[in-house]
Amino acid sequence: MKTLSLADVRAEIAKAKSADKAMSSICLLIRDRVPHCDWVGFYLVDADKKDELVLGPFIGEPTEHVRIRFGRGVCGSAAEAKCTIVVDDVSRESNYLSCSPKVRSEIVVPIIRDGEVKGELDIDSHTPAAFGKKERELFEQICRIVSTLF
Ligand code: SME
Repeated sequence: MKTLSLADVRAEIAKAKSADKAMSSICLLIRDRVPHCDWVGFYLVDADKKDELVLGPFIGEPTEHVRIRFGRGVCGSAAEAKCTIVVDDVSRESNYLSCSPKVRSEIVVPIIRDGEVKGELDIDSHTPAAFGKKERELFEQICRIVSTLF
């Protein structure tokens, strides 16, 4: 598997004709280049409600969780806390919204611009504890780049 560099991410953004298309391409890049990423998607903060996330571009099985209030599940918790949450074993997480029974671990990274959460990157894996320090740093850097789209 070819590794994913930040230059690749910047190149996709430069090529894309809209923020949505850029995020779709980044989902594909992550799924294809980072091991164990089985569902990759962006949630975006609802512009009117401000405390609700709406499902944006994603790759993987459809999910019933198309709207998530701040505080609910791993996604809502990361948005509320404005920090990355890594769950090594989703079966041990009480505030977890299941998207598929196959999922074993998850990482959620908020996208922050001018101190405000604009959205987040959510990645599910069928492998337990799939996301370590290296992956966390990569996804956080990607989210810093993506924040420039907002
Ligand atoms: N597991 C997430 C919900 C989103 S799905 O994984 C796509 C959560 O607990 O917030």
